[in-house]
This record gives sequence, structure tokens and C-alpha cells, in this order.
Amino acid sequence: MPHCLLLCALLVVAACARPQHVERLPDAPVAMPEMPENAGPVYARGALLYRVGSCVGCHSPPFDDATHLGGGRDLPTVFGVFYAPNISPDPEHGIGAWTEDDFVRAMRRGRAPDGHRYWPTFPYMTYTNLREDDLHALWVYLRAQPPVDTPSRPHEVHAPYGLPGMLGLWRRLAFRRGPFEPDPDAPADVERGRYLVQAVSYCDQCHSPRNSAGLLRRRDYLAGGANPGKSDVHPNLTPDPDVGLGGWTADDIAHYLATAEKPDGTRTDPDDIMAEKIRDSFSHYSEADRLAIGAYLLSLPPDDFDPEEWGMVKRARRREAR
Ligand code: HEC
Ligand code: HEC
Repeated sequence: MPHCLLLCALLVVAACARPQHVERLPDAPVAMPEMPENAGPVYARGALLYRVGSCVGCHSPPFDDATHLGGGRDLPTVFGVFYAPNISPDPEHGIGAWTEDDFVRAMRRGRAPDGHRYWPTFPYMTYTNLREDDLHALWVYLRAQPPVDTPSRPHEVHAPYGLPGMLGLWRRLAFRRGPFEPDPDAPADVERGRYLVQAVSYCDQCHSPRNSAGLLRRRDYLAGGANPGKSDVHPNLTPDPDVGLGGWTADDIAHYLATAEKPDGTRTDPDDIMAEKIRDSFSHYSEADRLAIGAYLLSLPPDDFDPEEWGMVKRARRREAR
């Protein structure tokens, strides 16, 4: 049983998988077209969410041969290679035959119209927290895009991860269905930032450590993480003065999310997954939204967890050094 839990643990972090095909991460723009000038407010909101919610990076990726909503992003993980599917309104190859209820069920419950469960490489553990009006805006936006008639690629799941029981077990342990519960006592900007971090941009899924069952370690929430078996670290985002963002202001965080420049003058490597997310997603947030994310992160209790010193990361470094 513990062994099985470990496998589930490995599975869950697939959503944070760092693409290994670095040669396919050029400075190419994403396949997402500019917004038409006459776009209504709901369409515009949907287009923004498609950007900042990172749908763009997987379903309209920055590859030369990519199509908007055509998917195709390869997500190599230790469990296999997953491919983002075609989610255009094409009735055969996309989701053109879906109703809005089907879409809400996929996002909120991680289930397809035929009832099968999705792999968590599709970050529905975050999108489950989206508000109704935001899900509706995404739906309106997706429906208004041109159909793409290329078939989705099947996932290549390594044995034994494809066993159906595993996904069900993981979901029972790790998946808490939304929507997001507002905290009436929190200041408005902090509350806004929490929504963007926990419901839209899945910052917490990469930047939190997990226990051996693959569940986010609540105690060290947003205090840094890493992908299973990998040595590259997702830094601590709590305001700890030594290992976290204690020396950063909300302005510094907002500036970083727009430019990848840190207050110490260094910047994130352009090939890094975080730099890609800043370029294609987070830099499209309004300044007010980026500041709200900063206000939320700085409102967290400081936590001195250091992902650089984490046993899992050190073991991965020793393995890589061999
Ligand atoms: C990290 C990559 C990634 C991101 C980000 C992502 N998706 Fe996906 N998405 C996937 C993968 C992989 C699947 C297939 C899951 C499966 O087959 O179990 C998927 C499946 C879906 C499906 C179901 C399609 C079908 O044919 O059943 C929908 C709808 C969808 N995504 C919409 C979205 C939207 C909207 C967003 C942004 C709010 C988004 N996705 C963000 C990777 C991603
Ligand atoms: C797919 C995983 C992933 C997601 C999602 C993600 N990050 Fe990151 N983030 C990283 C990685 C990897 C780094 C390390 C980059 C580097 O070495 O400069 C990083 C670095 C950072 C840093 C710099 C911290 C430091 O001490 O240098 C901040 C701040 C940050 N992320 C905030 C966020 C916020 C806020 C979100 C959501 C809006 C987010 N990240 C979403 C992976 C991710």
C-alpha cells in the first residue's frame, strides 16, 4: 500500500512537469491570436484567463508548428509523456460537440463527458476553484475560436501508472473539489491575490512541497518545492527573510512577474519554465493583479523550509552527479 501511495505521489506532480525538449522552447510567440478590437467584456475576460491561467502554454504552445487550441504540448514526466489535447470547437477532433455543462464538469470535477477521469497534468486541482463567471468567460472565449482539425495525440503512459485504480486513489486523497471559498476577513487585494494563486495560475502546485502521498504539505504551503526525481528547485515564496521573499516588496514581486528580473539584479534564465510562464502568461496580468499576488504572498506566515536542503532534492542531485 505505501508503495502504491508513492506512485500516486509521483503522479500528482506531473502538472508541474518541466518540459525536457528545451530545443522546442524558442523565443517563438505562442499560437494565440491578438484579441479583436470589438471583443465584448466576457470574451476579453475569457481571453485574459486563457493567458494568465496558462492554458496558452499547453493548448497554444510557443512552437513553430503549433495551432491555437490545437494542443500538442508534450509534457514528459516520470510516468510517461502526456500531450495537451485539441480543445478547439472542431466537433470531431476538439470539443465542438460539448455543452457548457460538459466544460464546467471537466474544469470543476476533472471528468470527461463520458465520465472518465483526467490525469492531473491538466491542472484541474486548481481550476476547480474558478468562479462560475470566470468558467463561463473561458467557455465563451473557447467557443468563439476557429476549429482546428488535427487529432489529439494519445498519451504514452508508462506501466504501471496506467492502472485505472491509481488515478481514482490519488483523487480520493489529493483532489478537493472547488469552488474557491472566499475569506470575508482578508483585505481585498490579499483575497484577490489568493484567488489568482490558487484558482488561476496554480503557483501553489509548483511552489509547495508534497508529502510522500503526493498531498501538498499544508504546513509548508508555498514554501518551495521540486518535481519528483528532479534537482531543480521551485523557490520558497513565503516572506521568510533568509530562504523566502522576506526581502522583496509587493512591487518587486509584481516587477518580477512582468519581467523575470529579481530585486538583486539577477534574472531567471530564459529557458526556465518560470521565464516561459512570465513571458506567455503572468506578464499579461494587469499591474493591479500582479500587485495583489505580491500582497497575498507577503501576507503568508514566513516559513524557513529550504527546498535547496530538502532530502528529495539532495538525493536527486547525488543521483545526477553519478
Ligand atoms: C500543463 C499543461 C496544461 C494546462 C496549463 C492546461 N491544460 Fe488542459 N489539458 C492538458 C492535458 C494533458 C489534458 C488531457 C488530460 C487527460 O487526457 O487526462 C487536458 C485536457 C483539457 C480538456 C479536456 C479535453 C478533452 O478532449 O477531454 C479541457 C476542456 C482543457 N484541458 C481545457 C483547459 C483550459 C481551459 C485551461 C486553462 C484554464 C487548460 N486546459 C490548461 C494540459 C493542460
Ligand atoms: C510550472 C512551475 C511553476 C509555476 C506554475 C510557477 N512557478 Fe514561480 N518559479 C518556478 C521555478 C522553476 C522558479 C525558479 C526560477 C529561477 O531559478 O530563477 C520560479 C521562481 C519564482 C520566483 C523567484 C523567487 C526567487 O527567490 O528567486 C517567484 C517570485 C515566483 N516564481 C513566483 C511565482 C508565482 C507568483 C506564480 C504564480 C503566478 C508562479 N511562480 C508559478 C516554477 C513555477
